[in-house]
Amino acid sequence: MEEELINTIKTPIFSHITSEDLDHIYEPSEDSFLLIDALEKDLDLIRKSKPLLCLEVGSGSGVVITALGTVLGSQCHYISTDINLHACRVTKETGRLNGVDIKAVCTDLVTDVMGDVKGAVDVLLFNPPYVVTPSEEVGRGDLEYTWAGGECGREVMDRLFPSVDSLLSPHGIFYLLVLKENNPADIEQIMAKLGFTCTCVIARRTGQESLSVLRFSRQK
Ligand SMILES: C[S@@+](CC[C@H](N)C(=O)[O-])C[C@H]1O[C@@H](n2cnc3c(N)ncnc32)[C@H](O)[C@@H]1O
Repeated sequence: MEEELINTIKTPIFSHITSEDLDHIYEPSEDSFLLIDALEKDLDLIRKSKPLLCLEVGSGSGVVITALGTVLGSQCHYISTDINLHACRVTKETGRLNGVDIKAVCTDLVTDVMGDVKGAVDVLLFNPPYVVTPSEEVGRGDLEYTWAGGECGREVMDRLFPSVDSLLSPHGIFYLLVLKENNPADIEQIMAKLGFTCTCVIARRTGQESLSVLRFSRQK
């Protein structure tokens, strides 16, 4: 008998996150939940690729990679990175409490994991610091790291784009959360030059922010 597949993604338990943690890490927010909703919408597509390795860059509290892990199960491996050590510890714990084993690595973008995951990432996730700020605010401290995106809110995410081709497996998919001010059409053009097609999976206005989740897959 075939195993019954769950088609919804529950929000993981994150009640262990304390107000002291939130002085240092990103609180799960509308953007985190929009990315989870995009993954839920794409779950059939993700499952069809039979993912064996999922990598989240900038995992913060770990709710996004954990949410995906709860539905994909233990045949897939989960690696996360964050520039903030505190976030890596919380990500590991969020995974543990929800039954997802995550290798959480403290590094800039994918620097210290590239050697291990090159060409093998089936699902790549990034909810970057996307807020438009002066460049000087990028990377100033733990909390600034979570939101300060510099010019057009693009200074951090733009540094990841050239690595996507090397990271992804032949059928790998990249999910990126963006703000309207990040100029998604320009991101689409940059990624097209790198060999990827772009689809907007989901879009939502939350308060002042117009957010969307873009999916990139290799051009056929
Ligand atoms: C908007 S928060 C998203 C957190 C979490 N993924 C979520 O959706 O709730 C951005 C995260 O990226 C991390 N980050 C910022 N710059 C980074 C860098 N250069 N390398 C790795 N992580 C980075 C921040 O510390 C923060 O945890």
